[in-house]
Amino acid sequence: MMDHILLTELRAARRSCGQSQASLAAKLGVKPQMIKRLEAGVGSVPMLVEAMAALDFQLIGMGPGGTLSEQLRGCRQKKGLSLETVAKRTGLSRATIASLECGRGSVRSLLCLLTVIAPKAGRRAPERAYWGAGDKFDRDSRFTPPDFMEHIYAAFGEIDLDPCAHLLSPVIARRRIILSEGGDGLVDDWSGRLAFMNPPFSALLIWLKRAFAQWQAGNVQTVVCLVPVRSDSAWFHETLSPVADIYLLQGRVRFLDSEGKGQPTPFSLMLLTLGASTEQRMRFASLVPGFWMTRAPDVAVSSLTA
Ligand SMILES: C[S@@+](CC[C@H](N)C(=O)[O-])C[C@H]1O[C@@H](n2cnc3c(N)ncnc32)[C@H](O)[C@@H]1O
Repeated sequence: MMDHILLTELRAARRSCGQSQASLAAKLGVKPQMIKRLEAGVGSVPMLVEAMAALDFQLIGMGPGGTLSEQLRGCRQKKGLSLETVAKRTGLSRATIASLECGRGSVRSLLCLLTVIAPKAGRRAPERAYWGAGDKFDRDSRFTPPDFMEHIYAAFGEIDLDPCAHLLSPVIARRRIILSEGGDGLVDDWSGRLAFMNPPFSALLIWLKRAFAQWQAGNVQTVVCLVPVRSDSAWFHETLSPVADIYLLQGRVRFLDSEGKGQPTPFSLMLLTLGASTEQRMRFASLVPGFWMTRAPDVAVSSLTA
């Protein structure tokens, strides 16, 4: 089978998240061989859907719908095509097409269907770091400067875990998960009282989801995330923001590049915390200009620190 764009983009998405086939397989609880086969177009649609969700991989260029199966049906119906017509054009049986539209079937059949009903389907553009032209190769290796970290230590205490650390980063943490040393903050369990996360911004959503899951599982008591202000996903609104405290920073942080030079950040930043106490948040507000956003069950805290 020719390499379908979906497969090429799936591989690219995995790599851009810093995942190997083995680490993605571990995350999904399957053998690495299954990811290898999936990326070659062999496997089941439910498996593909799971991998896509893990990589924050969404398709555009199809019909409306929140899931792949809804998109497939929506796409066919929008074009006024009956199951019969699509069956003739694809060489698939009606039952196979109906099955794909219910989220079942094989990846091979799915690709065949997509080629006919949605030839322009592709991955929704991944979030970008927006570090600007000329800085692409190491754009996710921007380290939190020591002066900013001093405020974090002073407000929240000593850091137990940096889940996406780097050997060159000045962040002081008892445990550091370092990709180049075989660690993987998206797979390895988090631990400790306080985790501080300044993640690769090009895969922001996936890291926020990871932080949320680890906090919700009780693996860490408090998570403090230094991230760009990006609030466009439904997940951010529906799941994260009801439980997160968000501090909008006034001004910008100058992150350090791998040579230790300060880089002006071309976007606004926020500190997003899960499980932080009122005292911790008030201390942070007294040290760093900005404000805590009002959260419905927490109005009193926000008005105190505003
Ligand atoms: C923006 S830098 C921040 C480094 C450090 N946390 C800090 O605040 O200075 C993000 C780091 O995440 C690391 N990284 C990327 N994917 C990772 C993964 N799956 N597991 C652990 N670290 C990862 C990159 O190597 C990069 O150095």
